[in-house]
Amino acid sequence: MVELAGLLGGATLTLIVVAFHYAKGTGWEAPEDISQEVLEQRAASVPETDFAEPYNRSIGGGGAAAIPAGGAEGELAEGDEAEEEDEGFDPDSIADDEVEYYEIEFAKEGETIEVANNETILDAGEEEGWDLPYACRQGQCISCAGHIQDGPAEDYIRHSQNESLFEDDMEDGYCLTCVAYPVDDFTIETSESP
Ligand code: FES
Repeated sequence: MVELAGLLGGATLTLIVVAFHYAKGTGWEAPEDISQEVLEQRAASVPETDFAEPYNRSIGGGGAAAIPAGGAEGELAEGDEAEEEDEGFDPDSIADDEVEYYEIEFAKEGETIEVANNETILDAGEEEGWDLPYACRQGQCISCAGHIQDGPAEDYIRHSQNESLFEDDMEDGYCLTCVAYPVDDFTIETSESP
């Protein structure tokens, strides 16, 4: 009798498992993700402003970048151009037949050498065997600085990159010899920083 009850219980359980196996789901599906759509609608509902704001207040919309204080769009464009100009001189842009040479007097070394306008003052000095100071060779420190005695540095050299000297320093004749290319003859004192 007990065996029959056990058998019936087992059969019932098996039927329940089979029934669950073939039962269809509830038909529920995850709703479509509309969060982006909602964000876009909310962004569209925020009125545009025509004044500079310190932060982007667009809601999920990725609005235009903030315009620097006092800068209208036209002025910003000009600023962009200025930035491009500030990016520095590219010595590779000089064609072989446009290479020019200038007489550079190294005051402390007591010699005058010819330096091409696509060669740095530091490289030219090192080729002479002089032990000139440097560290990064990328215009990012000031280890290689030198002082042009003839006037504002920008009248005599072009920097391919300058992340260390202020305009006032260059007005006073300082340059970064590792990234300075001559555009005229001049006298320089190496190992001189502002
Ligand atoms: S070696 Fe660093 S700026 Fe010239």
